[in-house]
Amino acid sequence: MNGQVSGGGLSVAGISKRFGRGTAAVTVLDDVRFDVAEGEFVAVVGPSGSGKTTLLNTVAGFVDPDTGAIRVNGAPVTGPGPSRCVVFQEYAIFPWLTVRRNIEFGMRLRARRRTAAQRREIGDRYLELMGLTAFADALPKTLSGGMRQRVALARAYAVDPEILLMDEPFAALDAQTRETMQEALLEINQKERRTVLFVTHQVEEAIFLADRVVVMSARPARVRDIVDVPWHGDRTHELKTSPDFIALRRRIETMLRDAHTSPQGDDR
Ligand SMILES: Nc1ncnc2c1ncn2[C@@H]1O[C@H](COP(=O)(O)OP(=O)(O)OP(=O)(O)O)[C@@H](O)[C@H]1O
Ligand SMILES: [Mg+2]
Repeated sequence: MNGQVSGGGLSVAGISKRFGRGTAAVTVLDDVRFDVAEGEFVAVVGPSGSGKTTLLNTVAGFVDPDTGAIRVNGAPVTGPGPSRCVVFQEYAIFPWLTVRRNIEFGMRLRARRRTAAQRREIGDRYLELMGLTAFADALPKTLSGGMRQRVALARAYAVDPEILLMDEPFAALDAQTRETMQEALLEINQKERRTVLFVTHQVEEAIFLADRVVVMSARPARVRDIVDVPWHGDRTHELKTSPDFIALRRRIETMLRDAHTSPQGDDR
């Protein structure tokens, strides 16, 4: 490992969230609890509309839970803060800044300020890790979707938060680019191990990337199961066609299908 290892672990302790009032109220999260150890990569899968983004937003501090607590490295989350950095599905990079400036931008906002020379050096490292060196001075509009998401990933890693939060970061990409990006993410995370919470509705993506997978039920989202992913190093795209991979994928997909048909509580 040649990067710095950042401190941090995540505890999601009994989070519930309801939107709206009276008969229009919708319970989205119901007593959700799980932990992510420092340096661990945990994926959350769940049916569409089950509350995955809401869960991630509570961890980010954008949404206040009604009950329960979230702790990052022991400190309670009370709002957005520098301990967490989010990579969104849409390319949340600035169109008027070059690739390099986008990557260096996040470092300007952090509590742990860097000098211009340090930002440049860190920027160089992530440009290289994400294969963007030749595009350092390019504007985002000249890049493909996959390359823009590389910029977003590079920026998030460069900020060096205690936890990286990713909400379907590859969902807008075509299948082939998505595979390449999954491999790029594995590679950067192998070199610069971080604590990652990664939301996706693709079981294949979850078990390809993560150390553990939190399987959510349909809305209101509860934790249905937490599955250990047995392969550690050695994740190449051939893994996806191996019998063990396919068996685990099917097992989780079956859970998700059952989650869809199971009776709902107090909701529409
Ligand atoms: N601010 C809000 N006000 C009211 N309802 C909301 C709000 N945010 C989310 N919801 C509702 O909560 C439910 C879960 O939404 P959420 O976006 O968390 O699901 P998701 O699992 O991320 O879905 P997808 O797979 O489509 O991304 C939806 O029914 C949504 O309409
Ligand atoms: Mg979502």
